[in-house]
Amino acid sequence: MIIGNVLFDSHEIQKTVRTLAFKINEDYKERELLIIGLLKGSFIFVADIVRYLKMPVLVDFITLSSYIETASSGEISIHCNLKESVRGRDVLIVEDILDSGFTLDIVREKILDKSPGSLKICVLMDKPVKRKRAVPVDYVGFTVPDVFVVGYGTDYNEKFRNLPYIAELRAE
Ligand code: IMP
Ligand code: MG
Repeated sequence: MIIGNVLFDSHEIQKTVRTLAFKINEDYKERELLIIGLLKGSFIFVADIVRYLKMPVLVDFITLSSYIETASSGEISIHCNLKESVRGRDVLIVEDILDSGFTLDIVREKILDKSPGSLKICVLMDKPVKRKRAVPVDYVGFTVPDVFVVGYGTDYNEKFRNLPYIAELRAE
């Protein structure tokens, strides 16, 4: 597999991340926010967006994976638990990409079980075409077509996460 068309360059990504952060700042004002990033795909997005947030922020991560090669397996493994307590807190889940919806549906239920004060979801990319579970998403950066994307944290078999842009993956 090789890198195909660039969908979003680093400048466009930063502009979108700033726009999302602006909305989040407006919505939460001075309320303390617990950001829960889903690893590994969201590590760069989380690192970038938190630097534009103005309220007091706590950052935590959960590790999970639902992808084998480029097809969603529908089976999600959760590798580590949250370090921060969720109960009563304003929680924002931050994810790289929403595709079938299985991942966020499961994570959302798990976090709701821990009784947060509020829960919202922010995704950098939404790929609505293959949605199988409806997931309420509050902040969306880009809507993408049904292509497999890599870069800016997203991977193909653990590769390409380091690309500063988001590109389409294609066969050689
Ligand atoms: P879902 O459970 O099908 O919604 O899948 C969401 C997860 O699959 C995301 O956290 C991504 O890590 C991964 N994923 C979905 N689409 C892509 C893609 O186009 N490129 C890389 N990873 C993807
Ligand atoms: Mg992911």
